[in-house]
Amino acid sequence: MDHHPRIASDRVLNVTILPTAQEASAAVAEKILSAVRANPAAVLGLATGQTPRRVYAALLDAVAAGEISFADATTFNLDEYCGLPASHADSFAAYMYRELFGKADFRPARINLIDGAAADNEVEAARYARLLAEHPIDLQLLGIGTNGHIGFNEPGALPAGRVQTVKLSEETLLANQPTLIELKQVPAHAITMGIGDILAAREIVILATGPAKAEAVRRSLQETPDNACPASHLSTHSNVHWFLDEAAAGLLQR
Ligand code: PGA
Repeated sequence: MDHHPRIASDRVLNVTILPTAQEASAAVAEKILSAVRANPAAVLGLATGQTPRRVYAALLDAVAAGEISFADATTFNLDEYCGLPASHADSFAAYMYRELFGKADFRPARINLIDGAAADNEVEAARYARLLAEHPIDLQLLGIGTNGHIGFNEPGALPAGRVQTVKLSEETLLANQPTLIELKQVPAHAITMGIGDILAAREIVILATGPAKAEAVRRSLQETPDNACPASHLSTHSNVHWFLDEAAAGLLQR
């Protein structure tokens, strides 16, 4: 079912609500597949976390069925924990190889990841910003934190922000703790694409599932953009599509 809730600025937003997380994830996967079918050399912005796992599984189903090739696609991941090399099981680089890259025909030369173990975070952020400037993102996939974060842009992050080192909020540390594989504690810092980098994508697809995301979704879709809820800035972009399951849509006024 498509809904078009209006926020205070009266911009019409593109929101699809499906009964289950599985269906919402399949719909997001279809958006990615159609973007790559239309342009095999598409530049994809990718996300980590629990939410996109079903999306990546659906992409791998299409790969297994011989329906798609990612050989010409370029990817950029949103963020990485500081201090973790790609070889660490808890790095987002390792997640991406486990969940997607290692099981499809992505070419390593076209995979862009932030190096969490870089000797100098500032230099690493500048390197990633240069790459992004050279390869504008066609389709950016996002999840949303319970605190409204996108990437690791926590509440208070500025909408024009670019790639930078950030301190993670208490809420994010708690939310990510159960997902750790080897670490005992979530790293305190990360390097993330900024909200400005995210808003520079031609098209944005954001997936939220489960009741824990309902309040962040409501604030993002039905309140005026505010730095306190980073995802609310998405409503200033002209081509954003939200995919929600019923639980994540549970607090929307319809
Ligand atoms: P989650 O994370 O998918 O693990 O809930 C989403 C996010 O923090 O962006």
